[in-house]
Amino acid sequence: MRSRQCRPVYETDILGGMLDHHASAFVGRDHHLARLTDDARRAREDGARAVLIRGDAGVGKTRLVDEYLRRTPLARAAVGGCLEMGTDGVSFAPFTTLLRQLARQEEERPSTAHNRELSRLVPELGERPDPADENRARLFEAVLTFLEECARPDGLVVAVEDLHWSDASTRDLLVFLLRNLGPAPLHLLVSLRTDDLHRTHPLRRLLPELQRLPRVGRLDLGPLSRDEVAAQAAVLRGYALAPGDVDLLYERSGGNPLFVESFLAVPDLIGAGLPDGPRDLLLAAVETLPDATRRLLGLVATGGEHVEHTLLAAVARRAGTSEEDLDRALRPAVDAQVLRATATGYSFRHALLAEAVHTDMMPGERVRAHRRYAEALERGVVGLSAAERAIQLAHHAHEARDQPLALTCAWRAADHAADAVGHPEHLALLERVLELWDRVPDAAERVGQPRGEVLRRAAEVSLVAGSLRRASPTRRTVCANSGSRGCTTRERPARPMRNSSPDSGTRAPRR
Ligand SMILES: Nc1ncnc2c1ncn2[C@@H]1O[C@H](COP(=O)(O)OP(=O)(O)OP(=O)(O)O)[C@@H](O)[C@H]1O
Ligand SMILES: [Mg+2]
Repeated sequence: MRSRQCRPVYETDILGGMLDHHASAFVGRDHHLARLTDDARRAREDGARAVLIRGDAGVGKTRLVDEYLRRTPLARAAVGGCLEMGTDGVSFAPFTTLLRQLARQEEERPSTAHNRELSRLVPELGERPDPADENRARLFEAVLTFLEECARPDGLVVAVEDLHWSDASTRDLLVFLLRNLGPAPLHLLVSLRTDDLHRTHPLRRLLPELQRLPRVGRLDLGPLSRDEVAAQAAVLRGYALAPGDVDLLYERSGGNPLFVESFLAVPDLIGAGLPDGPRDLLLAAVETLPDATRRLLGLVATGGEHVEHTLLAAVARRAGTSEEDLDRALRPAVDAQVLRATATGYSFRHALLAEAVHTDMMPGERVRAHRRYAEALERGVVGLSAAERAIQLAHHAHEARDQPLALTCAWRAADHAADAVGHPEHLALLERVLELWDRVPDAAERVGQPRGEVLRRAAEVSLVAGSLRRASPTRRTVCANSGSRGCTTRERPARPMRNSSPDSGTRAPRR
């Protein structure tokens, strides 16, 4: 039996920033909430709806999603976020998270026909299919069918957050889902930062196509109005600000609620000198913290927006800080709401704050911090799956400029990406192995294969991923050197993956 009540099934340890963490009242956005609730009603009556929630960093996309989830008339919800790890991203990261949330509910186990496929993304679902039997179309179909099963009869909301950071596999799967939305009462929310979409960002090309799909809508979030900023400030300060201060706050924050919070987090900021830009504004709260706290914050930020305590403690130990000292040093950051303590670790109040702290570190400090993460992960950390560990290790070893370790870890992580049929990430990791090859004298021993074999595998993945359409110089070299059939040094369109590109992602009609 399925539970009928709305019970969002978040994993706060992974996502952070979820429902019960909001100290501040929610202001404005009535129209946006009404639109989402109306979409949910239509999803129940006429079948699936999707909405792309767009807006600048800090404008309130996540908060809107959270507030809608408190009010949704649909019975269940699951949320997964994309991770800011560039090419080191975990394939299908947000889907792995949200499918795990749904599958953990006893009554929502996928039917056996699909759980072998889904176990590529959620290993606890059972034995994985043979790695040689890579078939993305089957995986995509299994995800869609499982979501539709979860949605019936009383509705399911699925939120994919921060699409601007998405791995290529996530985008492919999302395109497939959006093109194949059917009669099930499924409400798919996708949030993305518009100010992060630089000229060559893959979403620039994709978004217009997605927005034209019949069941897909778009919701743009702009800044708060002056009155809304005044209301937000009054709640945060506990009293109404003088009209002149409201004017100043509105002007300085540009109506961005994150910046409003950041101004108000520092007691004397209103009336003080204007920070140079958003980064300085965010860092203002950090600057008042004790030295030891700030030093350790750099270590936390190196792990990303959210870090598990076990991993952080292992990293801190390598930096000469005991677990007790770590707790003591981080307490002021939690009190100042720079960090939030979750059930299993720490989250920055906002991803932009983590980014600002990380950017503010000295280059040497940053490299050392990444090295400590790599060392701690290499020794093993409780609570991380083999795939998560491999991907994180590849990332930290690369950022630590430890070329031999980066090569070994990229090779290992490539295997995990292959298991998850994450072709684009698989290829990116193999490309890294090849890039590092000449700089690591014992590369062949580390990898256990000659360079030609790595080239052959990269060429094969490249063809499967259909990525020769946008072939990079490395990819062209891969093809040129591998002698792979049909592959030349000239760019030539590869056979596109069935069901994975916006042009081909349509599902075969169901019987
Ligand atoms: N309408 C609102 N009322 C009160 N506070 C808000 C509102 N919208 C956002 N906030 C607060 O502003 C901060 C930033 O909002 P949020 O994290 O939702 O931004 P975002 O658009 O998701 O940013 P990002 O692009 O970095 O993910 C949060 O602390 C949030 O609680
Ligand atoms: Mg957000």
